[in-house]
Amino acid sequence: MSQPDEPHHEEFVSLYELYLHIAYHLLGRPQLARTVAAALRDRDVSTVLDCAAGTGFPSLDLASDGSGSLVVHCCDADPRMLAVLCDHAGRLGVDLGSLMPPTQTDGDREPGLESLVLNWRDLGQIDMVYDLVMCRGNSLVYANTWGGGDEVAPLDTIKAYLSHMADRVRDGGFLLVDAPWQLAMGTTTHGLIGGWSCTEEVHPDHADETDRREWWVHFRQEGRERPLSFRRYSSALTVRLIQGALLEMGFEETTPIRLEGERTALGTIIARKTG
Ligand SMILES: C[S@@+](CC[C@H](N)C(=O)[O-])C[C@H]1O[C@@H](n2cnc3c(N)ncnc32)[C@H](O)[C@@H]1O
Repeated sequence: MSQPDEPHHEEFVSLYELYLHIAYHLLGRPQLARTVAAALRDRDVSTVLDCAAGTGFPSLDLASDGSGSLVVHCCDADPRMLAVLCDHAGRLGVDLGSLMPPTQTDGDREPGLESLVLNWRDLGQIDMVYDLVMCRGNSLVYANTWGGGDEVAPLDTIKAYLSHMADRVRDGGFLLVDAPWQLAMGTTTHGLIGGWSCTEEVHPDHADETDRREWWVHFRQEGRERPLSFRRYSSALTVRLIQGALLEMGFEETTPIRLEGERTALGTIIARKTG
């Protein structure tokens, strides 16, 4: 069977937003935001860095909850994802300046999209440590492939990124990361939401010596003849491998859990940095 055409990056980001809308509509986007908020309260967290903020889910939900009790800073390597975050922030009345992590070059920075762009390898530029650093939404396994391509990050690179994230956590603070429970994730169908349904397939891909996973999402709409589709490659990692890396780094409370409202395929770790 011939593969569908892949969209350019801007269209991919719009389709990813549609995917979040459909996948979390059923699972409960507000529920996930409430679960994360409760996890932060239980751990007396008042400062958060979301270093894979993407389009702002659920950091904007946390930043705009009306309590004013949380400082939420956001960054991500992908300007297209952050452009959507900036649009959402505008609609929710969240000031972009309040989301900007402080850096050593703050004198030159205006609040805006550019001031939120930061690769995990450059997290050391941030001039602050946080009660909790978050890298959720199955982001780690897409290290460096979110913009396209099949050059997935090896475990050593993922460990180096985790170490940069850990450096932004204060002693006694927390690192929240997630990853799939299993390597093979099979096929899941979501929908019908707003006339759309989507089917996602995650399969191991052994095309060359590299172990990686291939994720296809196909969107169908009533009356539309051909599905809209996108594909992304990810590192073949499980949440247990991430747990092992965090234990090596001296973190405690590393047992993965299933967060209420989260996609069932993902295990989440909220590990404590020993001081
Ligand atoms: C699966 S998306 C999840 C985004 C968001 N957390 C969510 O739940 O919608 C993965 C995110 O990780 C970001 N990312 C991947 N590699 C990165 C890197 N090396 N540095 C910073 N961000 C990266 C991508 O740009 C993308 O926004």
